[in-house]
Amino acid sequence: MNNISLNIDKTAGFIAEGAVKAYAPQVQEALEMLEKGTGLGNDFLGWLHLPSSITEEHLNDIQATADTLRELCDVVVVAGIGGSYLGARAVIEALSNNFHSYLKSDSPAIIYAGHNISEDYLFELTEFLKDKKFGVINISKSGTTTETALAFRLLKKQCEDQRGIDVARKVIVAVTDAKRGAARTTADNEGYKSFIIPDNVGGRFSVLTPVGLLPIAIAGYDIQALVKGAADMEAATAPEVPFEENIAALYAATRNALYADGKKIEILVNYQPKLHYVSEWWKQLYGESEGKDGKGIFPASVDFSTDLHSMGQWIQQGERTIFETVISVENTEHSLIVPTDEKNLDGLNFLAGKHVDEVNKMAELGTLLAHVDGGVPNLRIVMPKLDEYYIGQLLYFFEKGCGISGYVLGVNPFNQPGVEDYKRNMFALLGKPGYEEESKAIQARDRKSTRLNSS
Ligand code: PA5
Repeated sequence: MNNISLNIDKTAGFIAEGAVKAYAPQVQEALEMLEKGTGLGNDFLGWLHLPSSITEEHLNDIQATADTLRELCDVVVVAGIGGSYLGARAVIEALSNNFHSYLKSDSPAIIYAGHNISEDYLFELTEFLKDKKFGVINISKSGTTTETALAFRLLKKQCEDQRGIDVARKVIVAVTDAKRGAARTTADNEGYKSFIIPDNVGGRFSVLTPVGLLPIAIAGYDIQALVKGAADMEAATAPEVPFEENIAALYAATRNALYADGKKIEILVNYQPKLHYVSEWWKQLYGESEGKDGKGIFPASVDFSTDLHSMGQWIQQGERTIFETVISVENTEHSLIVPTDEKNLDGLNFLAGKHVDEVNKMAELGTLLAHVDGGVPNLRIVMPKLDEYYIGQLLYFFEKGCGISGYVLGVNPFNQPGVEDYKRNMFALLGKPGYEEESKAIQARDRKSTRLNSS
């Protein structure tokens, strides 16, 4: 099997010669810190050797539960937010037919909830599920996340009402902490099948735990191949691999070199709409891991060539504080040739006989040249194809790159203290018991700002 590869040639000329190599000692130190557990956040390193330590027995247990839901459900709702849903969605969407939601399939449709608090979304979801044989996976490490808990309360009741309590107990599964949280309490009380999210794996690094693997298996994808891809990438990015050959090390070094040179925004680019949610997953991974202490590259994303017709202008000629990381997929799953048209009214006969992907690849190359000419450094990740194995490699590559990059930047890549701030205010505003002091503080601040506004 090949590995995915990383090409950083098109960053030359934007940073001093040797700037990437100069990071080699820091990157090596970061790799050792991860390996020895001597860095910040070292109680959250369970993802590091997860791929190579997942047992056959564990995968079989996940697959058996997936098979039960596949047999009993037409639709499975994944209830989760952030790291508790983005990994599963990224993989499932990357592997699914683009029109899967309109097609009949042997596998249950996977849909998502618990990642917003929209009344319309939840109302429309419950309406949609009314005539469906549905199941629910309640995914929450803390077991107390409001968005997920609220959606699950509605879904649990609807599932019990619609399918009866006994079937509901078979088609509701929890993925949560071993002991703590409301999701654990509910699962134990109701006798749901449950899976544990290890203490030492944070949400955004949890795609290769049952958080991601269970929904992916229910959707009908090969979790063994996914884990194998990740395990091969784990080996390919180990500390003993030389710097130039270790693509996670090179990625971390290059993005830090660019950041130090004023490139504050990284745009993840794809030319396959199926990769949209890989970008969403990546944004969470890098945004939550690095954006702290007043530092961190801002992770953004675009889907090309679609967004060349919206964000393309900004990227070509806007403020020169960006760089792009392009995910390029070498081979398509299907073959489609542009037909010849005798009349050639659309003037497209110059493309006749070519694969559509050849046109896409020329759009990619043309864009690369234009953006580099326009002052945008480009990194390029090449995937041989979109399948479970290479997606497994990609996920682990990004996780490892993130751990290294965060340490090189000098932050704790494994915490997210800033995520709590909105929750405190929301709970205070909603009158949640225990938030009385915050509530008073908000009221006082409101009065003060009203006075300021009227003066
Ligand atoms: O990466 C993280 O830790 C977060 O994005 C969490 O995954 C997210 O907030 C959901 O938390 P929980 O799984 O506790 O419901």
